[in-house]
Order: sequence, then structure tokens, then C-alpha cells
Amino acid sequence: MATSSTTTQPRDTWGSKLGFVMAAAGSAVGLGNIWKFPYTAGESGGGAFVLIYLLFVIFIGFSVMLTEFAVGRKTGVSAVGAFKKTDRRWSFVGVIGVFSGLLIMGFYPVVGGWAIAYIYKLATGLLSAPEAIGDSFGSFISNPIEPLMWMGLYLLLNIAIVARGISGGIEKAGKVLMPMLFIILIIVSIKGMMLPGASAGLEFLFKPDFSQVDSGVVLAALGQAFFSLSLGMGCMITYGSYLKKKENLVQTTAMVTAMDTSVAILAGLAMFPAMFAFGMAPAAGPGLVFVVVPQLFAEMGAIGLMFALMFFVGLSVAALTSSVSLLEVVVSYLIDEKGLKRSTAVALAATVMGVLCVFSSISLGGLGPQLFGTGAFDVFDLLTDKIFLAVGGMLVCIFAGWRLNREELEKEITNDGDIKFPLFGLWYNLVKYVIPFAVAIVAIAGVYSGFESGKGEIMLVGLGVIAVSGIISKKL
Ligand code: PHE
Repeated sequence: MATSSTTTQPRDTWGSKLGFVMAAAGSAVGLGNIWKFPYTAGESGGGAFVLIYLLFVIFIGFSVMLTEFAVGRKTGVSAVGAFKKTDRRWSFVGVIGVFSGLLIMGFYPVVGGWAIAYIYKLATGLLSAPEAIGDSFGSFISNPIEPLMWMGLYLLLNIAIVARGISGGIEKAGKVLMPMLFIILIIVSIKGMMLPGASAGLEFLFKPDFSQVDSGVVLAALGQAFFSLSLGMGCMITYGSYLKKKENLVQTTAMVTAMDTSVAILAGLAMFPAMFAFGMAPAAGPGLVFVVVPQLFAEMGAIGLMFALMFFVGLSVAALTSSVSLLEVVVSYLIDEKGLKRSTAVALAATVMGVLCVFSSISLGGLGPQLFGTGAFDVFDLLTDKIFLAVGGMLVCIFAGWRLNREELEKEITNDGDIKFPLFGLWYNLVKYVIPFAVAIVAIAGVYSGFESGKGEIMLVGLGVIAVSGIISKKL
């Protein structure tokens, strides 16, 4: 974001169109694409998951992003305010978004910390013992202390950026390092595909095998689409509130969606051929990038080290440009709605996040409190990407479709008729009828199937939290 979020009039806007697209893409492209997408695809059976994910991105993700931009620009205020301004009883949707931001920041910095740690580990000789790379990741993340220090460092970087009232430096860094990461991903993919046995990885990624699909996989694909595109929690509403009236919302949405999705697919191309060539199991879990990328470059000497370093620097920056947007949603809520000073808001939000992250990090070593037998890291991940974001996105659609007025939405999206959007009717019907219905079915079926793996109870708790906050807010 190029501006502070306090509501001074006239509201600040993005300096340039590219600045906005890059900032929104910076929020979207992050650990979700490069860390989460490949291992979730691996655990969910590959090709069929990828296909369902792509369909969700096109039909649901695109429409929800356009809705969030439109709601944000129309109301001109950040998440909670955007709902409140139209109808007080809807502000709970914004509040759930703030809560999701807090919970995502309860585990995201742990993984961001790993990415920074790997820069250091590479520089201090990780590649010299390629056979130990896999084991060293496992013992690193389950160590109770070491990852905490890196997580702390990562969180400090976030605080430093957001406390300064957004972000000149990080935006500039992003503009250079994002294209670099993109190029490195291409190099990694080519290198991986040249290994003997790599084609099995391509087949795994792109040849759908529907016998692997159950309602849990469908919910995972939906959650991945929302998480990766930064939807369902008010982030894109807040970003949209800074957009100029003459900007083309449809085109912007298309660009951000396309960039985000191509990075995810590229990350899949970078991981799976190499994994299959190395004989690793596709369901290797959250360690995937941290094991495959170093291993791929281990045999290439100094050049390999340089590429691997560039990869983890790029990954750390991609993670940072996403997590500052998460932190900013919480911080701007505390400033706008609770009247806190920016510095106090940042300190408060980051303290809560830091505590949640400590629980997340130690849970990977089997320590700390559990909910229904699941550790904090997995609980926060489950609650947010399987429940809060999807339901949040659904509620934004219901709000736009049923509470806002069709003509006004059409005016907002077409800039009072200046821009042609022939698919407006399709978009509107998707948002009003199809998406709420589809998300509800997928979520209910997913929670139901979650009971088989012991995760259903946690998801039910998430749904309960949303229901209770909805009911309370109606009484306010
Ligand atoms: N989209 C980000 C990623 O892929 C994560 C994120 C989710 C950021 C929700 C903001 C809001 O890493």
C-alpha cells in the first residue's frame, strides 16, 4: 500500500496503476503460492486437485476479487468500515476478516522465518552435505528454540515496515525481487525437468486422477484459491479503497489473478519433476520447498549456491509483501475503529501475533496446547484457509449480491459506463447465487469429511465462531 490508512479526506490513492497492481500482486503472491500450493497439491493427489483449484480461481476467485475491489472503492474505507458504512449489522464480516488476519499471522511468520533461516543456512554450508538436507529440515522445525529466533526476526521486519505507515522500501524491493523470483522459478523448473525420471512429476501435476478426489480435496482447493489470492478477509477491500475512480477494476483483477496463478503453477513445475526424479513422496508435506530446492542446486557448486540463495531471498521478500498486508488489515482496524495510534496498534497486533506464532512453532515439535489433538500451527491453518476465508468470501458475495444495489455495482465496475464489461450479468449472477451456494456446499461437505481425519471438530468450532459473531452483531 502506498498510503496510510487513516481516513483523511480526500482519501489518498495509488500513485500509479502499476503501483496498485504490484501491491495487490505482492499481497497475493507469497508463501501461499510457493510453499503451500505445491505441498497441498502433493498431499491432495496432484492433477485433479490442480484442475479443481484452477476452476475455483477462474469462477470464484476472480469474481470475489472483483467484488472486494468494487466494495472497497465504492465505500472508500477499509474492511470493517466498508460494511459498517452500508449497514452496521454487516460489520461482523469485516471483524471476522480482521480475526482471520490475526490467525494467519499466527503461523505465517513461522514459515517466513524458515525462509530467512535458509538464507543463512545456505550461506553457512547447507549444500555441502546434500544427503542431509531432508533430515536437517525436519530437525530444524521441530527444534523448540532455533525457529523461534528466525520467526522473531521475520516479525520484526514486518513491524518495521508497517510501523512506518507503509512501505516505500518494501514496494521497491518487491519490484526488483519479484521478477527475480519468477526467473529463478523458471530456472528451477527447467533444471528439474532435465533430471531423469522427471516426466512422472509432470504427469502427477497435470493428469487428473479423480479417484483421488473427495470432498476434503475440493475444500482444500477452494481454501487454497482464497488463501493464495488474499481473499475473504478484507485485504483486497482495503486495497480497493485506495483505488482511483478511473482505474479499470476488471482488468486489474484479471492481472492480479493471472500473476498469482502463474506463480503457483510455476512453483508446482519447479517442485514435482525434481521430487519424482529424487524419488521423494509427493505427500512430503510442508518441508517440500525447503528440501527440494536446496537439493536441486546442491550439485552445481558456486552457481548452484547463488541460485539457491536468490531463491530464498526472493521467497522471503514475497512472504514479507504478503504478511505486511495481513498485519496492515489488523492495524488499520485498530486505528480506524478503535482510535489507537499507529505505533500502539502495531505493537498490540504484533504482540498477539508473536504469542500465537510461538505456540505454532513449538507445536511442530509436539509441544504446547492442542485442540482436539491438533497443534496450534495446524489449527490456525485449518481455521483460516478451510473456514474463515471461504465463508468470509461467501459473505462478501451475499453482501454485494443481496444488500447492495445492482445498478450501483454496475456503475462502480464499469466506471459509470466508461468501461465495457460484457460479462457483468454473468459476474453478478455468480456473486448473487452461484458462489454463496457453491461455497456453502463445499464447506459443509468438507467439514463432514473432516470428521474422518479428526479435523471436523475444529472446523465446526470455526463455523460456530462465525455464527455467534453474526448473531451478536445483529443485536448491536
Ligand atoms: N496470499 C498470500 C499468500 O499467498 C497470503 C494472504 C492471505 C495474504 C490472505 C493476505 C490475505 O501467501
